[in-house]
Amino acid sequence: MNVGIDLISFQTAQYFLDLRTLAQTRGVDPEKYYQGLGQEKMAVPPPDEDSVTLGASAARVLVDQVGAQDIELLLFGTESGVDQSKSAGLFVHGLLNLPRRCRVIELKEACYAGTAGLQLALAMVRLAPQKKALVICADVARYDLGSPGEPTQGCGAVALLISAQPRLLAVDAEAGFHAENVMDFWRPNYRTEALVDGKYSTLVYLSTLVQTWRQYREFTGRKLTDLARCCFHLPFTRMAEKAYIRLCREEKIPEPAAEEIRHILGPSLVYNRQTGNTYAASLYEGLAALLDNDPQDLGDRRISLFSYGSGCMAEFFSGIVQPGYRQYLMADRHREMLAGRTELTYRQYEDIFRYQVPEDDGDHVFAPYRTGYYRLQGIKKHVRCYQSIA
Ligand code: HMG
Repeated sequence: MNVGIDLISFQTAQYFLDLRTLAQTRGVDPEKYYQGLGQEKMAVPPPDEDSVTLGASAARVLVDQVGAQDIELLLFGTESGVDQSKSAGLFVHGLLNLPRRCRVIELKEACYAGTAGLQLALAMVRLAPQKKALVICADVARYDLGSPGEPTQGCGAVALLISAQPRLLAVDAEAGFHAENVMDFWRPNYRTEALVDGKYSTLVYLSTLVQTWRQYREFTGRKLTDLARCCFHLPFTRMAEKAYIRLCREEKIPEPAAEEIRHILGPSLVYNRQTGNTYAASLYEGLAALLDNDPQDLGDRRISLFSYGSGCMAEFFSGIVQPGYRQYLMADRHREMLAGRTELTYRQYEDIFRYQVPEDDGDHVFAPYRTGYYRLQGIKKHVRCYQSIA
């Protein structure tokens, strides 16, 4: 029985900063960001947007299509959760009116949390094929102002509907995975910005890619050339190029020409280049971008996914794109959302960045910005109050 991704929906904030603006302010050559990192814009969440509102907006589109009745599991993968105890998924469960008979959990392992959610959801659907699971990956990526990580910031969410006989991607059972206790990127509970050993983090990313690929190759007997397209976790899009080149080297295939890299990776990078890192959502934002934008029909073709979460946990797996998948994509919605965003000046970006959610027990109401279907209306006696706006 095939199990996998039945529908996929992506959401990002309605505001962005062009990295040329950031480069000018920081006195950096803009080509370092545009070419060196492969990033053009970063999505900036206004004060009334967070991982819950982004995740709920992404998921709402799926629930509107298929109804909520068969959803028995909601897994919310994030490293920018809004509460130390309560799952962000429970806010979404309420906003979307999901059934009370539903298991709802928040998962954390940096950018890997979405993949953990996906694999757990697939396991549930294998046992109960008539049921569906909702996996939401949502994050706000923040680094210190002026730090090397700053131009890789971003935010966004992806919702995946997991089912038997999926319409988009049947996920293969085999996977290579790897865990290791390293300090390449982390965020202590008392900080709102991540700490990172940037260059080291890229090295660990690549070494765990090789470890997981070797396992995958051994279990499946497949070669790199058996994969029609490769999706990688995208902290910034140049990282995917480095990853693909590293795999070619491992396979002793000649270094790929720019045209081949564009063919294998290009469509999967389109959205991330416009949003920046979306942490747990980033790999699946790449998958949505690939399916939405690849000029070729990928039906019946096998594609790979590499998930990396700092700390670290990595997984290499694959799936077969389902014939006729194109009619079930939300490509127009995704493109219109990205095209309809509002550009910020540097000053506006820094003001939003410096805004801190109040921590006292007062009754705080937030000014309305442009958001998706939901916004954080206020915080009253430490209780977050979300509002549906459409
Ligand atoms: P940096 O030191 O500012 O940049 O940090 P750099 O000096 O390494 O330059 C970057 C690239 O731009 C280089 O290309 C330069 O040559 C090029 P490369 O040598 O790598 O091919 N460059 C230029 N190109 C054109 N014109 C120019 C120019 N100048 C330079 N004028 C770093 C880069 C990625 C370290 C930094 O942005 C950072 O710390 N980012 C955050 C950490 C990160 O993204 N790590 C990625 C792997 S870990 C991961 O993916 C997990 C993560 O998502 C978190 C999670 O799991 O939750 C982050």
